[in-house]
Amino acid sequence: MGYQEAYDKLEKYGQPHVFQYYDELSGYEKEALFKQIMDTDLAVLQQCAHREELNPRGVITPIEVMQLAQIEERREEFTQIGLEAIRAGRVGAVMLAGGMGTRLGSDEPKGIYNIGLTKEVFIFQRLVENLMDVVQQAGVWVPLYVMTSDKNHEVTVSFFREKNYFGYDADHVIFFKQDMAPASDYHGKVYMEEKYKMSTSPNGNAGWFVSMKKAGLVDKIKETGIEWLNVFAVDNVLQRIADPCFVGATIAMNCAAGAKVVKKNAPDERVGAMCLEDGRPSIVEYYDMTQELMDAKDAEGEPAYNFGVILNYLFREKDLEEIVARKLPLHIVEKKIPYLDEEGRRVKPDNPNGYKFEQLVLDMIHELDSCLPYEIVRNREFAPIKNKTGIDSVESARILCQENGIEL
Ligand code: UTP
Repeated sequence: MGYQEAYDKLEKYGQPHVFQYYDELSGYEKEALFKQIMDTDLAVLQQCAHREELNPRGVITPIEVMQLAQIEERREEFTQIGLEAIRAGRVGAVMLAGGMGTRLGSDEPKGIYNIGLTKEVFIFQRLVENLMDVVQQAGVWVPLYVMTSDKNHEVTVSFFREKNYFGYDADHVIFFKQDMAPASDYHGKVYMEEKYKMSTSPNGNAGWFVSMKKAGLVDKIKETGIEWLNVFAVDNVLQRIADPCFVGATIAMNCAAGAKVVKKNAPDERVGAMCLEDGRPSIVEYYDMTQELMDAKDAEGEPAYNFGVILNYLFREKDLEEIVARKLPLHIVEKKIPYLDEEGRRVKPDNPNGYKFEQLVLDMIHELDSCLPYEIVRNREFAPIKNKTGIDSVESARILCQENGIEL
């Protein structure tokens, strides 16, 4: 892409200011900027104007959840089915570690955060150790794919190397990068991060499958016979990964996906609730929960939307192939975005100053024909770290880890 083509694209999407420092740039910087303009989806910026109308919801109704008692009754059977799939190499794990973790307030990748008290216990380490339990039980390595972004790739990869993959087999740890999306002010004008670079942020955690495909990993997965991918967030330090019972239950119920869920601790808890939307599996986010949905009861008098997702999903690969071409909803999220001011000085804002654009893995569930909501014991498997203190924090996760006998 040369100057004219780049300029035309900027004009088309109302972003000509991206060239405001053009005359000051070196040849190398100009090339870098052209490339970024070519690679970036600027069309998303136009959605700012229609933010409110972006994702209209369908009719929400309750979904049947496989609850703890039902799981207990068939635990042995499900576990055997799951172990068989894992031993046959049909299960892989995908860690979503491309996020910025801004709420934690560290510039480093979230997984590098040390939650230890008397020794080092890194978030990445906790996750690898959890997966290692399954490796030991099954007697085979589970391929672990780690999604990073432009912002944290090198640091993440070097950290794993430096720590010797926390005892995992390096040949079974595969890193890939997700795509970036532009980040803009409240009027959809992209910020500049450098004079030759637009501000960008990772394009949301739904990017994982497309990015794996682009990296050639989906073809490899198919060659090696992986049929199921357990996708999980980087920040839940207690979660079970490639959990044989969960894998087995999803296979036994012949579902296209499974979603681990926890019983909500209040109707307005800030977790997405599993439901049906226009008859298909879906997740209603906490900010879309109306009073009516919060008050709704099932036949037993229990809250009808009582189970929240924890960002631990099992996807059947072949079903993802079918949905990959479909457009997922776009989420426009308010964030603090570093930028260059009028004088070209770098500013790191203390308060949100614009939008980033994301697609979310939870919206992939709605594209599938079936999904098994699978209940887990909350205090054993759900210790997310979003903040330093308070709810879903380093503090709360430490307490839960200790309750579960993990030395910190
Ligand atoms: P969060 O929604 O907690 O976002 O991500 P975040 O960016 O990590 O944190 P904040 O909001 O800035 O504090 C949930 C999971 O999805 C991953 C995160 O790494 C985390 O595991 N994620 C999020 C990605 O992999 N890519 C993204 O673009 C966004």
